[in-house]
Amino acid sequence: MSVILKTTNLNKSFDQGKEKLHVLKDISLEINSGEMIALIGYSGSGKSTLLQIVSGLMDFDSGNLEIFNHDIRNISDAKRTEIRNKYLGFVYQYHHLLADFTALQNVMMPMLISGVDKKLAEISAYEVLVKVGLQDRVKHKPFQLSGGQQQRVAIARALANKTKLIIADEPTGNLDSENSANIIELFWGLVRENNSTLVIATHNKEISDRASRVITIKDGRLI
Ligand SMILES: Nc1ncnc2c1ncn2[C@@H]1O[C@H](COP(=O)(O)OP(=O)(O)O)[C@@H](O)[C@H]1O
Ligand SMILES: [Mg+2]
Repeated sequence: MSVILKTTNLNKSFDQGKEKLHVLKDISLEINSGEMIALIGYSGSGKSTLLQIVSGLMDFDSGNLEIFNHDIRNISDAKRTEIRNKYLGFVYQYHHLLADFTALQNVMMPMLISGVDKKLAEISAYEVLVKVGLQDRVKHKPFQLSGGQQQRVAIARALANKTKLIIADEPTGNLDSENSANIIELFWGLVRENNSTLVIATHNKEISDRASRVITIKDGRLI
């Protein structure tokens, strides 16, 4: 097992009027390849902030962050984007699908950005959409899909590129429990099938029960 993500004494504050809101406090964390990690904690404890930082999407105040052995603070924006495209896949609570594009085009997008040939991207995107049960919805746009179907597209998009690390921020937080259980089952299976590593912020007990490690954050500190 190798360390694919490492933070050391990571701190993050937000300006709140005159005050500073200290949201992440000395977060030191190592994630090994192959782990399935559940990140749990009350609303407002800092889960989304931490996931955005370790995804290279948000800056931080102090500490260190290495993603696949790249020191994220000391590389160019272009290099950071390249690393994100090459290694990471994301699923958010609100799916963030592109409204004007079909399900197929949405799933193809990260592959096209990372330079995969268009025809190949189309074939791979279709295959993953079949796996999430949407083979007869590939030409639908997000507004023509139910909430659960939209989230399936978002999962397909995160998985299509078979990136080594999948980061999911309460991916079923918006769905009813039956839909949510089905989608998690599917998601978990596909992450495993791809031999990816998973970090998932969740309130769902079934998810944390099957994780290989549970990390709890409270008031911005890991406990
Ligand atoms: N952009 C922001 N500006 C100011 N405060 C923020 C911002 N984003 C998050 N926060 C605050 O940081 C804390 C942690 O938020 P968040 O990471 O979203 O928690 P969680 O995902 O665990 O619910 C909350 O108190 C939230 O209000
Ligand atoms: Mg959150």
